[in-house]
Amino acid sequence: MAAASRRIRFRLPRPGRLAPSIGGRRFNSWEGPRIQVERVDPVSSAEALRRRRYGPSSWDGQVPWERGSMIVPEVLGDDDVEAFIKGELDHFVPMQPRPVSMQEVLDMLEPQRIAKFLHVEVPIRIAERIRWIQDIPNWEDIKELREIHTSHMKVFRDLRLVQRRPTLDAFTAVVQHALHAQQPVRHKVAIAMHRLHTERGEEFGSGFTDPWADDFLLNCIGTEMLMSQYLACVTMEDSGVLQRGHAMAGIIDPDCDVAQICRDTAMRVQQITEDNTGRCPLIQVEVFQERAIPRFSYIPGFLRFIMTEVLKNSCRATAEVAKSDRDVQKRPINVIVCADDHEVAIRVSDRARGIPFGVGPKVWSYLYTTAGKGPSYGEGATSLAGYGIGLPLSRLYARYLGGSLNLVSLPGYGTSVDLFLRRVNANQVEIAKYALEERGKVVFIKTHPEKHWNCYMVIKSCGALSLKIVTTFRNVSLVAYGAMMLGEPIKPKHVTGYALALVGFLGYTYFGNAREQPKSVAASDNGVERSPHERQTICQEEKRVYAWFELTGKLNAGHRSTQFVRYFGCLVRWILGECVKVSGFFVATLTLFTLVPQVVAAGNNTGTGCECGEADDVEPILPLYATLPMIAILVALSGLFSGLTLGLMGLDVIGLQIVQKGENKEMARCAARIAPIRESGNQLLCTLLLGNVAVNSALSILTADIASGLVGFFVSTALIVTFGEILPQAACSRYALQVGARTVPIVRFLMILFFVITKPMSIALDWLLGQEVGTIHSRTELMEMLKLQISLGAVDAEEGKIAQQVAEGALSFRDKQVGDIMTPLEDAYFLNSDTKLGYDAIREIFETGFSRIPIYGRDKHEYRGLLYTKDLMLADPEDEMKVGDFIQIFGRKVETVFEETKLVACLNAFKKGGTHMALVRKAPVKVMNCQDVD
Ligand SMILES: Nc1ncnc2c1ncn2[C@@H]1O[C@H](COP(=O)(O)OP(=O)(O)OP(=O)(O)O)[C@@H](O)[C@H]1O
Ligand SMILES: [Mg+2]
Repeated sequence: MAAASRRIRFRLPRPGRLAPSIGGRRFNSWEGPRIQVERVDPVSSAEALRRRRYGPSSWDGQVPWERGSMIVPEVLGDDDVEAFIKGELDHFVPMQPRPVSMQEVLDMLEPQRIAKFLHVEVPIRIAERIRWIQDIPNWEDIKELREIHTSHMKVFRDLRLVQRRPTLDAFTAVVQHALHAQQPVRHKVAIAMHRLHTERGEEFGSGFTDPWADDFLLNCIGTEMLMSQYLACVTMEDSGVLQRGHAMAGIIDPDCDVAQICRDTAMRVQQITEDNTGRCPLIQVEVFQERAIPRFSYIPGFLRFIMTEVLKNSCRATAEVAKSDRDVQKRPINVIVCADDHEVAIRVSDRARGIPFGVGPKVWSYLYTTAGKGPSYGEGATSLAGYGIGLPLSRLYARYLGGSLNLVSLPGYGTSVDLFLRRVNANQVEIAKYALEERGKVVFIKTHPEKHWNCYMVIKSCGALSLKIVTTFRNVSLVAYGAMMLGEPIKPKHVTGYALALVGFLGYTYFGNAREQPKSVAASDNGVERSPHERQTICQEEKRVYAWFELTGKLNAGHRSTQFVRYFGCLVRWILGECVKVSGFFVATLTLFTLVPQVVAAGNNTGTGCECGEADDVEPILPLYATLPMIAILVALSGLFSGLTLGLMGLDVIGLQIVQKGENKEMARCAARIAPIRESGNQLLCTLLLGNVAVNSALSILTADIASGLVGFFVSTALIVTFGEILPQAACSRYALQVGARTVPIVRFLMILFFVITKPMSIALDWLLGQEVGTIHSRTELMEMLKLQISLGAVDAEEGKIAQQVAEGALSFRDKQVGDIMTPLEDAYFLNSDTKLGYDAIREIFETGFSRIPIYGRDKHEYRGLLYTKDLMLADPEDEMKVGDFIQIFGRKVETVFEETKLVACLNAFKKGGTHMALVRKAPVKVMNCQDVD
């Protein structure tokens, strides 16, 4: 080693970063420290460190360190490295881990990006764990804690010394090593907790050990996830498959098939159970995908772990409780997989007599196990059970991304474990330690992806700006108008016009602002902690707008179409809202700039006694203050009539009957309410059309009355088209049943009101066109409709196929002939009359599964009789009686039918005769049995 001493040069830390501490001394962040140390040969020092500390895999012998944060020492001696790491630890310990959401992890798929995050985040998490260990008094006395501490220090040191540039190779090697070192930690933690509890029970009861282990292992899960994700991204990039939208995004599967994972896990656990107990319980996996398909973006490894542990427990309990192999089969374990738009749920229920009542919440303790009774804790553990960490650790994995795991035991009967997992990426946020500590407090973590949030804010700002412009415009106009009026003699008409204009504008501004207000309140949620109640009060508006942005690419795979429909609905609602706003503004502007000046001018004309034409002297039908509300009412009525004409008349009587019998209770209720009025179809049609035409005409007259004829024409056309036709029809075509059901009383009232006119009209129509009949589909149309509905997902594929077969069979049943479905003679199972009914023959007969077997003589054309399989109960295999003789005892009969006989007739014959098999005549003779008829 060179003896000459030399100054270590440090680069200045970047402004705003915390100053590091080296050897306990903390440096000001703007001064480069000047430490006088011995001259160290960098190569030999690095090599010595490598040999002493790291082993061959994690160090490539190059200049080893790069600090992501403060200083970059170029050369350090061994002691300085110790001081350096200590300083780093002190620096990292107070830092809090930053919980990430699944969405963020998905956004960081490039290895360079995730490595940058990991390089700082993982040391923070490891430093936190090191501190937790060191906080336990006399932790060095517990062997497992010592081992965990040493391995954590090693990983921390590796991570702080490794560099990420110019390539990621060294960093990747360190992460691999760190992940590998973390594997035995969970068992060691369990053993350490057990040791603490048994050796120092008075100090460390389960009240300490369980929360401690929960926090520690939750931290481990988070680190494990980040490191595995990084390694997966590196591997995928190396193999050239890393790209968004690929089947896997690192360890995350954007289209994780929950049911398939359950099935695979079930098979593996069955194998483990058989290896350990010699018994193999039955596991049945059922999938319900009526409302949503149980696929979502999740980490399959986590789901596999949870399912393995839960199923292992159930299998072990079942195998232990069952008295025999048959008993095991009588206690199947049921796995139910289901989902809705927000969550995916799995229930595992067994019939292994449950957990004794007294055990209670102890099952969640790391100290509770009824297996592995070896000389010391965990020694008798097998791959099936023995550490007592399966349940608590599974619950941690479930909770880690915001899910939950609950257990219900019915003592004496069985246990049921319910797993709930969150579906939306942005809601799947890591639960950090402090969330467990402060149970009940909800930490509201930013859930909106940054870029969508920005987009939302831009639009919101644009909206606010336009509102400001409009408001200013209004104020200026009002002032101008006021000034204009001051030059004129003021009359009551002026005041009314002015007041109306003011009310219109104020109303618009008020409601406009009221709609804007909650947006800005909700905007402050971004990154702020809120209680559950506060979260619930987040404005619907924001949710809708945000949901719309989410459509642009953040849809959870698997239920894309459902979400699209929902978001499309949001968009339509949003557009409708905007239309209402704009038209409010339009009406108000019209009042101010067109109607009011006209009224004023009319007043002036009368006042000054100028000579006007006769038209100008015509009195308006209604005073202005009554006309405007009347216009609004008429527009609403016009919309109602036109919407209902489409909504109610578009509903077919037969269609309504079908909906009434359907599974959707709400729809059925709506259909039941509509059905009575829909039955008088022509009267309903006449009422709605009459109402619509009357209202539209009145609207035109009124608008023309208060404005000029041309303005009246344009205004009434615009109002009728927008609010009287387009919007109501768009809404009613989509929500016909709901709107129709809610407006039944109004429609009834109108039908009574117009009865005198519409009844005769409808009678005339009925007479001319005949009573209305619903759409009747032909058989082929019915079949096509069935196929179409099945392909659109009315029922799941499997069920749909069966339904289609059954329906096809039922529809074509009347036309089918026996010849169409019979089993040809050569394919039928026959027995020769000389067959001896010994053990082998009887077994063979039972194995075929047939209940009736024809017996032939020389060849299959010589029919001898019929053997009922159940009669074989009376046969003694020892006697080896010939089957030809055996059937003589019972004399079972068989029907004979012709090939052209209709299936209906054949079925009736079967019902009468009590037999289910018939011989079909006309060469070649064939046999038909009841399965064919079914
Ligand atoms: N479905 C079940 N039926 C009956 N007892 C159960 C069931 N699930 C769990 N238990 C009881 O709860 C205890 C704790 O379960 P846990 O999975 O945490 O640990 P373990 O199975 O004993 O060991 P391992 O850590 O290897 O899973 C079990 O030992 C068992 O006594
Ligand atoms: Mg277990």
